[in-house]
Amino acid sequence: MSIGEKIEKKLAAFAACATDGGTLWRPSFSAADDRSCALLETWLAEENMEIYRDALGNLFGRIPGRESRVVMVGSHRDSVKNGGRYDGAAGLIIAMLAAGELYRELGAPQKTVEVVALQEEEGSQFLSGFLGSKAITGLLTERALDLRDRQGTRLEAFLSGADFRQAVRDDIDLFLELHIEQGPYLEQENLPLGVVETIVGLIIARVTVTGQQNHAGTTPMHLRRDPVRGATEMITALLQGAAAISPKVTMTFGELSAAPGASNVIPQTVCFSVDCRDVDAANLDALNRLIQENLTALETKGYGAAIEYRCIEQPKELSKDAVDLIAKSADQLEIPYTRMSSGAGHDAQIMATRFPAGMLFVPSRSGISHSPDEYTSPANLATGFAVLKQALRNAAWQR
Ligand code: GLV
Ligand code: MN
Ligand code: MN
Repeated sequence: MSIGEKIEKKLAAFAACATDGGTLWRPSFSAADDRSCALLETWLAEENMEIYRDALGNLFGRIPGRESRVVMVGSHRDSVKNGGRYDGAAGLIIAMLAAGELYRELGAPQKTVEVVALQEEEGSQFLSGFLGSKAITGLLTERALDLRDRQGTRLEAFLSGADFRQAVRDDIDLFLELHIEQGPYLEQENLPLGVVETIVGLIIARVTVTGQQNHAGTTPMHLRRDPVRGATEMITALLQGAAAISPKVTMTFGELSAAPGASNVIPQTVCFSVDCRDVDAANLDALNRLIQENLTALETKGYGAAIEYRCIEQPKELSKDAVDLIAKSADQLEIPYTRMSSGAGHDAQIMATRFPAGMLFVPSRSGISHSPDEYTSPANLATGFAVLKQALRNAAWQR
């Protein structure tokens, strides 16, 4: 079996742990995640790695080196709702196989190598991303314990008394993450590899617009305070304002709901998420001002308007040394690549706040991701494997 086929087979088995009625969803702290971790642990043991979990539930496979300083490699294990089987999973399975193969071929590394399957990058359970990498970098604060899952249970209740501050690390020399591109660029350019230099900054928030619940048939149009009207006016204004800031800004309203939710009732509230991103920090500030101005405009029109910020991350440049390491590794294998920025958020941008961090992308078919149609060919997975393995060899096995 080729390495591409081997990766694909493991991806299918990993996805099966979290697929129900044909739909893949692996939120953190779920039965699907428990099944997925049990399988990962079997595989990490087959690669002769020492297995442990930290206080936030990040799962590690460790290969002790001659030195205790660590080269960490991996990606997140959670998925979005009705997601694809490559986002996160490809990076962590390839990391595990690459480190395992080097261990068999070359014996104990110089630096200690840890493969990591990170907890809750997608905001899949607590609607607030990067929890695993924030715990490792010490960016998680006491307030995170109050984050609530979709059923309203506090994060603290899932930690079984463990103190998340114990997950903080100061022994990491390098973090490497392979990921699918999740966009169309590499495929369009017919390139098998992207070396990531910059990752977008993002604002993710939840807006609640309140009106007056009333009867759909008896309330004259000019007398109603319908929050659907307020919310849709705000969404239109945000889309227009974002385009005026920069055509490269992205803005998404992925969750929308009206309550109480009946065809013959003018709703009391409309709740929607807003996700906006850009690689330029000044544009991100402008987007935040735009959101605030539109909340004030809603109040002026007589609606209630509240916002809860779920995630604010500044754009991040990855370590030049890590970028050069990946580029050198691709050059050694004569694999063509381009340097690029990422429009998706990644744990590497959080790791990069504390440790040198590098990322490599493999192509996504038709640029589709966060969808069951996500696909990366075995040949492209194999190319990513080869470059990641070479980068790991250069970083951890060389004296
Ligand atoms: C993570 O996939 C994100 O970019 O939202
Ligand atoms: Mn994702
Ligand atoms: Mn991802």
